[in-house]
Amino acid sequence: MQQAPFPTIFPETAAVSEAGHLVIGGCDTLQLVAEFGTPLYVFDEVTLRGRCQEFLREFGDRYPEVRVIYACKAFVNRAVLRLLAEEGLGLDVVSAGELAVARSVEAAMDRVYFHGNNKGEDELRPALDWGIGRVVVDNFSELALLERLCAERGTVQDILLRLSPGVDPHTHAYTTTGITDSKFGFPLATGQAVEAVHAAQAASHLRLVGLHMHLGSPIFEVEPYEEATRAGIRFAAQMRDASGLDLREFSPGGGFPIQYVRERPATPIAAYAEPITRILLEECRAAGMAPPRLVLEPGRAIVGRAGVALYTVGARKDIPGVRSYVAVDGGMADNIRPALYEARYEAVVANKALETPAERVTVAGKYCESGDILLRDAELPRLTTGDVLAIPASGAYCLAMSSNYNQATKPAVVLVRDGQARLIRRRESLEELFQYDVL
Ligand code: LLP
Repeated sequence: MQQAPFPTIFPETAAVSEAGHLVIGGCDTLQLVAEFGTPLYVFDEVTLRGRCQEFLREFGDRYPEVRVIYACKAFVNRAVLRLLAEEGLGLDVVSAGELAVARSVEAAMDRVYFHGNNKGEDELRPALDWGIGRVVVDNFSELALLERLCAERGTVQDILLRLSPGVDPHTHAYTTTGITDSKFGFPLATGQAVEAVHAAQAASHLRLVGLHMHLGSPIFEVEPYEEATRAGIRFAAQMRDASGLDLREFSPGGGFPIQYVRERPATPIAAYAEPITRILLEECRAAGMAPPRLVLEPGRAIVGRAGVALYTVGARKDIPGVRSYVAVDGGMADNIRPALYEARYEAVVANKALETPAERVTVAGKYCESGDILLRDAELPRLTTGDVLAIPASGAYCLAMSSNYNQATKPAVVLVRDGQARLIRRRESLEELFQYDVL
């Protein structure tokens, strides 16, 4: 066995066999493809567990009380949720659907946080029925709605308020949330955050236990977290003085990055943990406040690196003097990120992993849009029909945002460990594509 190419982008267990095959979790990817077909998403259990432990350790070693909740919008799968619960993670859900999945795996509801900028009554009711741990209230409409629902049932719900701190995380505009002009949260800059605290304190069926912010995703810099944490704790101290706010929980959200391409390594978790915990402790000491529980909400950083997408190469189109296109049997239906955010990836030919690059090609998907391109100008060994292309760093927001465009069936997913592959989501069938149509 040899080290895999791009060792910091592929899962921790990735290697190359003597035959030149990409191996993940001790499983030859060519055998996985023979057994489960393509497109196939492979998740490495060692990497998944390792990322959970890294978060708990890096933050937990530096701070008295830490809770890590997995933002399951990044990739929802029941087997993976069970595994993350075993590692001690709570959950961030954003819909009745995610909540139902959480409940189906008997997630500990006291550690489930309900997010979202437009939670419907039909979503809040089951959340309350099932004993949701925290509702992270996003706006004044929700504050009034939740107070009414809790008053009707005569219960008191723990809530956090989501603040919009006015911090730019320098990421894609579509995934920037912490700025004042955002659909999420109560802005600090306009005074509405102050009003929200007063309104929450006045609501007799809500117990305000903390403050939350999420700046954007992915955030490769540390400074936005520093700035937001400082602003959050200063605001809490101001509200303690003004109206007796008792800050028991504080969350700087998720947004921690992973490495997608050679040129852009991901800042390690420790580099975030150090300043966030230090600033929290410093600011709390300066304000004479007890340090609140620190709640982290990673999604991508937990599942992103663990997942690898495998595709079979099909058609080629060489346009002399212009470009060579190589098409694979997936694309924007299973990974819309390149089309939506111009996201970039690396790739390896799984059956030619020891070969050096021999050509520059553009890897196209198979769907009916010119924008369905997975990689532009990739340097790869010469590709022929039947080769298997592996795209690492595909664990987050690929399957989670997948669609049935062109009536594509959603891919199968396997979890690998110690040479064993376990199917954790079977491939969708053609019949399942039209099962909801009514004639
Ligand atoms: N907490 C809140 C309130 C969030 O809105 C999000 C992500 C997270 C935590 C987790 O962020 P993460 O740690 O995964 O970066 N579809 C985009 C990313 C959208 C993120 C939405 N919110 C992408 O493919 O890059």
